[in-house]
Amino acid sequence: MKTKAFIFDLDGVIVDTAKFHFQAWKMLADELGMEFDEEVNERLKGVSRMRSFEIILEVNGAMERFTEEEKTALITKKNDLYVELIKTLTPADALPGIEALVNSAKAAGIKTAVASVSKNAPAVLSALGLADRFDYVADASKVKNSKPDPEIFLVCAEALGIAPSECVGIEDAQAGIEAIKAAGMYAVGINVTVTSLEPDMHLASTAELDFTKLSEIA
Ligand code: BG6
Ligand code: MG
Repeated sequence: MKTKAFIFDLDGVIVDTAKFHFQAWKMLADELGMEFDEEVNERLKGVSRMRSFEIILEVNGAMERFTEEEKTALITKKNDLYVELIKTLTPADALPGIEALVNSAKAAGIKTAVASVSKNAPAVLSALGLADRFDYVADASKVKNSKPDPEIFLVCAEALGIAPSECVGIEDAQAGIEAIKAAGMYAVGINVTVTSLEPDMHLASTAELDFTKLSEIA
């Protein structure tokens, strides 16, 4: 097929903010005396703020420890820490190959979108100087279901006016690969720790994103 759109995940694909999400959750978990490591963190990728916290609570057998109100206050605290960490971002933090791919897409008339469930996505894109570079950025506050649900990828395809089968989705997390495949799109995985569904193409890093190959998927 001739690719008509590239749909990018943000955290871990356009920029390495996954490490900031990890740091912020780790600070909160430490404060609450809870276990939290890289393995659990892997399960939070692509997952909403509240669902992420619930996974941490589940892992610690602490599902009943907090009321809904307390949980909301605690995830707000995590987000305040995260917002502090992303203040350090500059355009130099965009991962290698991303800008080049977006530029090549633009020149070839291929549409681009960002499919991130992060409510901080607009702030992160601004800090990177990429806020106006994509044809569409999904609004996380309007998306009901986190990845692995395909909703956010389908919302992007619809906004771009492109059939899902002509879209290439790029993701760094297992939940994201599942979302892309469930949306009926071609999935490119960036350094994904595969636990179930395999991406259609697996790359070690964004530096390996090859416009020529991705614009024409065999
Ligand atoms: C995703 C991240 O992009 O956004 C998740 O992979 C994160 O780790 C989610 O939990 C929600 O982000 P935010 O910024 O709205 O808390
Ligand atoms: Mg990601």
